[in-house]
Amino acid sequence: VLWTILGIIVAYLVGSISTSTIVVRLVAGKDIRQHGSGNAGATNTLRMLGTAWGIIVLIIDGIKGMVALWIVYGMTGGNSVALALSSIAVVLGHNWPIFFGFRGGKGIATTIGVLLWLAPIMTIIAGVICIVVIALTRYVSLGSLILSVLIPILLAIWAPSHSAALWASVVLALLSIYRHRENIGRLIRGKERKLFDKKSDEF
Ligand code: G3P
Repeated sequence: VLWTILGIIVAYLVGSISTSTIVVRLVAGKDIRQHGSGNAGATNTLRMLGTAWGIIVLIIDGIKGMVALWIVYGMTGGNSVALALSSIAVVLGHNWPIFFGFRGGKGIATTIGVLLWLAPIMTIIAGVICIVVIALTRYVSLGSLILSVLIPILLAIWAPSHSAALWASVVLALLSIYRHRENIGRLIRGKERKLFDKKSDEF
């Protein structure tokens, strides 16, 4: 139990390393949280610095989730409950980072990272669907929401015995909906930012 608690704390601290905030500060000398959507994530990095930097932040935030689980795996000998709780902790760190005034992102890249570890096939399937949705609609938030909600549904249907991953993915989906609540309102009103739409970026 002690190692599990320590693992959760380490995962939260790893998650708190806000890649987009650091990258945008280093590359542009700006605070990402004052520009675009104000979100400290890959999408808003793309808005500010272009596609390449957006993808780099997406990948690093995903790897961050995997690194956290890899550390917890080492600490707990691969205890599945510890890994599930830590996957939530690393996303909590990303969303509310202790090193950056608790103002972080929406957790999607990091959620993809941890779920690639816990449930790789379902995450890849949901990821492909997410990419198609974004390509068709240019709403990253819509793709993100579909991805995070789809993974627990796929797991419940095809791998219900994989309970730690299932419950982690349910909590991560609820977190994602909570973090996207303003996006959901804008989507409903037809006011959500579209990818590569300079007009809606308002820097
Ligand atoms: O993962 C974040 C994305 O779904 C939405 O980001 O900046 O458009 O609110 P943003």
